[in-house]
Amino acid sequence: MLTGASGGLGTFMARAFVNYKFKQALVAHPGANLEELRKVIEDRGGEAISITCDLRDAAQRKQLLKDVRKQLGPIDILVNNAGVEFTSVYHELSEENIYGTLRVNLEAPMILSRLVLPEMLERKRGHIVNISSLAGRSGPAFQEPYAATKAGLIAFTSSLRATYRGSGVSASVILPGFVEAGIYAKLKAKSGCSAPALIGTSPPEAVPRAVIRAIEKDLPEIIVNPIPVRPLFAMIALFPSLGEWMSNKIGANEFFHKVIEAQKREERQ
Ligand SMILES: NC(=O)c1ccc[n+]([C@@H]2O[C@H](COP(=O)([O-])OP(=O)(O)OC[C@H]3O[C@@H](n4cnc5c(N)ncnc54)[C@H](OP(=O)(O)O)[C@@H]3O)[C@@H](O)[C@H]2O)c1
Repeated sequence: MLTGASGGLGTFMARAFVNYKFKQALVAHPGANLEELRKVIEDRGGEAISITCDLRDAAQRKQLLKDVRKQLGPIDILVNNAGVEFTSVYHELSEENIYGTLRVNLEAPMILSRLVLPEMLERKRGHIVNISSLAGRSGPAFQEPYAATKAGLIAFTSSLRATYRGSGVSASVILPGFVEAGIYAKLKAKSGCSAPALIGTSPPEAVPRAVIRAIEKDLPEIIVNPIPVRPLFAMIALFPSLGEWMSNKIGANEFFHKVIEAQKREERQ
């Protein structure tokens, strides 16, 4: 089951998963049109159903799983991909948007995982993949709720792996940097600014590849970024003040600052 199937990265994932013969449950917001994507999958010889669900709503989440089980049987793989992001000066962000980010990005993956775990454990087979972000490690400026939820997914995945070790059921977390689709593509179009050259951007196909590799090799975590960033994260862990200085120099904070300026210009017009 793939959430956020209508989004930039979700559509790339759904198309890539056809090669692996998964029966796919494509999940998106009410109102999203998944029919075209479902047809593409079927034309390529895959099998997919499309279901809408507002992931913020507990009753709709339960109903979603009932519907998927009824139509496709038990769930083997859950990809928690749906996500929302609001670039904003934190205290100017509405509480509604803060709660919305917490619900879609963290609560929904945690609760969906809890609901699919019993059937996975019963069959001694299953994998949960949580789509986090480099923002969950680095905490860039103007990204407080997003960064907090993505950091939450990293810790959540690590706990799941520790709890269910040896059961046949496991979890992985994917940390993409800037990817040329979805959220980043929208920010770029809105602000006219590109990701900092010192971080670079990844093609969207790199994310489904990472998801598949994480499942096949049962990997705890994969970073999707063209330039290696683990040394920076090691630096932040060892020397937080120096790491913070380096993070700032790399330019992600400046990128989001430019997005804020573009948003403010747009509001004034
Ligand atoms: N693109 C990047 O550069 C990048 C980098 C790092 C991490 N990520 C992560 O990758 C994942 C996919 O992001 P994306 O770039 O593909 O973004 P996107 O194009 O905005 O797609 C987000 C998806 O989440 C769905 N969604 C949002 N709120 C929902 C709700 N309440 N109920 C159900 N579905 C909801 C959206 O549905 P609607 O379209 O119908 O609203 C859409 O399908 C996210 O978790 C994001 O944080 C992306």
